[in-house]
Amino acid sequence: YSSLVGRDFDSLKYYQPDEIKQLLWTANDLKVRMKKDKELYQPLVGKSLAMIFQKRSTRTRVSSESGMNLLGGQSIFLGPDDVHIGVNESIKDTAHVLCRMCDVILARVYGHDVVDTLASESSVPVINGLSDLFHPLQILADLLTLQEHFGELKNLKLAWVGDGNNIIHSLMIACAKLGMEIRVATPSGYLPDTGIINSCNKFSAKHGGKIHLTNDPKEAVYRANAIITDTWISMGQEEESAKRLKDFDGYEVNSKLVKEAAADWVFMHCLPRHKEEVSDSVFYGKNSVVWQEAENRKWTVMAVIHHLLKDYQPVHPQPNF
Ligand code: CP
Ligand code: NVA
Repeated sequence: YSSLVGRDFDSLKYYQPDEIKQLLWTANDLKVRMKKDKELYQPLVGKSLAMIFQKRSTRTRVSSESGMNLLGGQSIFLGPDDVHIGVNESIKDTAHVLCRMCDVILARVYGHDVVDTLASESSVPVINGLSDLFHPLQILADLLTLQEHFGELKNLKLAWVGDGNNIIHSLMIACAKLGMEIRVATPSGYLPDTGIINSCNKFSAKHGGKIHLTNDPKEAVYRANAIITDTWISMGQEEESAKRLKDFDGYEVNSKLVKEAAADWVFMHCLPRHKEEVSDSVFYGKNSVVWQEAENRKWTVMAVIHHLLKDYQPVHPQPNF
């Protein structure tokens, strides 16, 4: 059991498989103690979380704010019009000020370099609440959801159908490190980042994961246990909407495509959902676990905040990963 106190949570790239499992174990533990057993557990009294948001958010904001509160701490939401960040004051100067007043910083930004600058300039841990490259908090919630549903992670086959974006970047890293297989279908021109693919292949070689890239959604979904997608138009790409809708033609996850999947398939989506990437029949259907996945954003971010501020010793046995 290693201490994560003082670390940043900027990308899963820098987390060892055992450290990722440790965060998932803690999330599961907190969920049992605080949701199922209704235990009041407030180890973070007197601690505060600064939350910088350059973009909108429902899940990341509400999970972190309410989660910090539930652990006894306080959170301060700083939207684009609330603080000087990047407009009237540099990111560097903002980082120096916030870390003298708060114990941890969470940031949702456009360029990932903003997370890097906050992390290098701040003396307190920085959590990535989504950047153009990564969304590690989302993937912890996805892994917890898969573990809860299937009872393990290692032998699962996942399928991604859609854009080569921030979500799939973090998901590929997790698969590579936890020994899972993922088949990624994107239109040509929307492949995941080449540098990240190369890192993932190295992680896979070491930890037993498998990543396969294709342009064929059917090939990706064939015998998959989980089909995962996201919007084709991420925040900040609105001007490309018309072109993207055309380029992603044929990538909708619908009742025809899911026929290729394993019998026990589930559908997942980080949300917010746009209507074009998944049909209502799949999104609201019985194989969809999207609400459980959204709820797990809360237990997983609580695990992250807890571990970066204080060690945690689980009281329940480790789930099977
Ligand atoms: N999945 C996710 O991060 O949602 P929000 O944009 O609502 O935070
Ligand atoms: N890919 C999406 C995820 C939103 C949670 C975006 O970046 O807008």
